[in-house]
Amino acid sequence: MYPPTTVTAYAHGKINLHLGVGSLRSDGYHDLVTIFQSVDRHDVVTLEVMDGLPGEILELTCATRGVPTDETNLAWRAVAAVFAAAPDPAALPAVCIDITKKIPTAGGMAGGSADAAAALLAANHLIGAPLTKEELLKLAADLGSDVPFTLLGGTAIGTGRGENLTTVLNRATLHWVLAFSSAGLSTPDVFRTLDNLGHTPHLDSTELQQALAAGNPETIAGLLHNDLQPAAISLQPEIRTTLRLGEEAGALAGIVSGSGPTCAFLCADAQSAQEVAAELSLHSAVAVTTSPAKGAYLEGH
Ligand code: C5P
Repeated sequence: MYPPTTVTAYAHGKINLHLGVGSLRSDGYHDLVTIFQSVDRHDVVTLEVMDGLPGEILELTCATRGVPTDETNLAWRAVAAVFAAAPDPAALPAVCIDITKKIPTAGGMAGGSADAAAALLAANHLIGAPLTKEELLKLAADLGSDVPFTLLGGTAIGTGRGENLTTVLNRATLHWVLAFSSAGLSTPDVFRTLDNLGHTPHLDSTELQQALAAGNPETIAGLLHNDLQPAAISLQPEIRTTLRLGEEAGALAGIVSGSGPTCAFLCADAQSAQEVAAELSLHSAVAVTTSPAKGAYLEGH
């Protein structure tokens, strides 16, 4: 049996600097070409060992309203997946999970996926780290399309449904303003709306990759693209106003993050980001952040 103990892990949210959506596959997913970048805004997942049966998950707590606190939560499923893959099930601890959220829920920034990534790391560490990084990445892909990237972090191109990752060279520190919406959007709804609207897929991200390697924010701003943006706007028309206000406030470019509704505004520098945030805050809740950030990590590592 393990002594009572606590493990804490962190994972950052992401923005898709490019999101090209290809055809609908027979498994219900769409083939993507996307450039992910993690932003300096993270959730915190803590596992605490409690009295209980081996491998039992006793409860999940989270102070943020709207976050599921049962086995449908991706972090819960992540802990269960690590425990199911553990070599000695009889020696597993019973645990409670706590999540502190700074990434918006249903906001298009991979908040739930980040919680899953942090939970994978924490659960593996708690039981003596029997699983390799590759094994954790495999479990991550089974949990959700964005979970492998939130585990890896940095800047990466994702293909397949987003789970096949290759690191992309990036020389810029980018300054962003995030504008949050009071209502979330369901990712399946946004993809379904895109299928109904029809679109020409933008699957070539070569120019953006070159711009990231060169590190000039102005050039990067001109190449931000999201095929899901029209679908997100059709489901939440206020997004159009938010995008216009951010660009009028001086952002280089604004884009819907992933399936939305969070809008991300790329700014020329830290000073400009503060000014854009001050003006946009009259319209919606905002935060200033930078990218890239690192992948999920354990406290003290
Ligand atoms: O992988 P994840 O569970 O995060 O995906 C949620 C939903 O988003 C899928 O069920 C699917 O409807 C949609 N999706 C998609 N194509 C992708 C990723 C997600 O259609 N590449």
